[in-house]
Amino acid sequence: MRHFSHTSIFILLIIVSSSCRKDKYTSPNNNSSTTVSCDTTNVTYSNTLKPIFDNYCVGCHNMSNMSGGYALDTYMGCVNCANSGRLMGAIQWLPGYSAMPQGGNKLSNCDIAKIQKWINNGKPN
Ligand code: HEC
Repeated sequence: MRHFSHTSIFILLIIVSSSCRKDKYTSPNNNSSTTVSCDTTNVTYSNTLKPIFDNYCVGCHNMSNMSGGYALDTYMGCVNCANSGRLMGAIQWLPGYSAMPQGGNKLSNCDIAKIQKWINNGKPN
């Protein structure tokens, strides 16, 4: 009888400790599945903005066709556009700005966040 109850407590301890371990490892998974990840660290023109603008903008904004006066196919062209104060309003489709990309879908929130971060960080090349 005494031996049996010791065994029961031992088994109970294993169950309790293994269920704690299970809680500990499942919660980070739950967190990561609900977090939308957008990496805005180390945003630069060459690595971050150029691929976005090449995809969505340079067809209309390049050195030989500067729609609205903006060429977005070079670093300086993008700096000039950002310095004009028109860039963020246009890609966020704010009232008073022409919604860009013209005739296309709005950029993703992550792309918009990266472009804002690039401006905040002093427009690194
Ligand atoms: C289909 C052609 C086309 C595409 C694609 C396009 N643009 Fe434009 N964009 C224009 C034209 C034309 C103008 C000038 C007339 C106007 O403002 O509507 C313009 C104007 C602008 C302006 C000035 C807006 C203002 O309100 O002063 C900005 C900034 C701009 N574009 C940025 C972009 C960016 C960034 C992209 C890509 C995400 C892009 N454009 C894609 C044709 C385009």
